Amino acid sequence: MRALKEHRIVDVPEPEPGEVLVEVRHISANHGELRHPRIGGHDAAGIVLGGPGKGRRVVAFGPGAWAERAVFPASSVAEVPDGLDLAEAAALPMAGLTALRTLRAAGPVLGRRVLVTGASGGVGRLAVQLARLAGAHVIAQARRGAGLRELGADEVVSSLDGVAPVDVVLDLLGGPYLVRAWELLTPGGTVQSIGWASGEPAAFTSLFALGAARSIHSFGDVSEPGPDLAVLVDLAASGLLSPSVGWRGSWERVGEAADALFAGRVSGKIVLDVT
Ligand SMILES: NC(=O)c1ccc[n+]([C@@H]2O[C@H](COP(=O)([O-])OP(=O)(O)OC[C@H]3O[C@@H](n4cnc5c(N)ncnc54)[C@H](OP(=O)(O)O)[C@@H]3O)[C@@H](O)[C@H]2O)c1
Repeated sequence: MRALKEHRIVDVPEPEPGEVLVEVRHISANHGELRHPRIGGHDAAGIVLGGPGKGRRVVAFGPGAWAERAVFPASSVAEVPDGLDLAEAAALPMAGLTALRTLRAAGPVLGRRVLVTGASGGVGRLAVQLARLAGAHVIAQARRGAGLRELGADEVVSSLDGVAPVDVVLDLLGGPYLVRAWELLTPGGTVQSIGWASGEPAAFTSLFALGAARSIHSFGDVSEPGPDLAVLVDLAASGLLSPSVGWRGSWERVGEAADALFAGRVSGKIVLDVT
């Protein structure tokens, strides 16, 4: 975690036309950013200091977000509605965009069975809630399943053994979970392969399956996030989506937060206060 503890002193950036300068109050740390610190942080919430919307409370997504002041394209920022805490808003960008966009990519889920693996984590808790909001029957897989029913899961399972066939899988674990998820798909069903939090190798032999074609999709498109950020903060402000912050502290404690995440002591999002 040494790389994350290093502070870089840089000039305060100036916004170009079409950009906003944000005084960052809170940031969020995601699994991949803590596992691979070279990726850098993306989630921030704060106050617009320069550019369109000066003085407004905003949430922002983009490289360079982990700073006291950061510049973002205006298309990567959304205003935070009254009633939503900035720290809660900071939890939403990466995890929320991922959950929202993979669920959309899976197609309509009204009345369909949607399985979320790794459901107790940052992306998973948001995915469970969004799938439920979209009318799905939600099966949440997690070894630590506390609180998932309250978020809208219809079934909470610790393993995929015994799960009845599903129409959609949002897979955050990869490896053997991805293989099992594929086997659980109904004809025509789809797996959104999002992450590899299990760290375990996969053992696919073939994707052969009878009946209507099943599909498997990668996810990595976080372009033009502004409109979807607005969707997420609006849902959270209206009480329909809990950002599910599971760990909060000063950004000086990022190493501690990472240790807690990888030791399985965080359920939900990590939010760090820029102190
Ligand atoms: N493609 C993209 O653009 C994108 C975007 C965001 C995230 N991701 C990836 O998606 C994954 C999940 O992200 P996240 O932020 O939700 O992570 P997270 O908060 O760390 O949650 C991951 C969950 O996985 C479970 N888990 C961890 N190790 C496991 C193991 N060995 N076996 C089984 N379950 C295990 C844990 O739940 P239990 O302990 O309760 O089982 C944990 O709550 C990560 O791999 C991340 O890098 C990808």
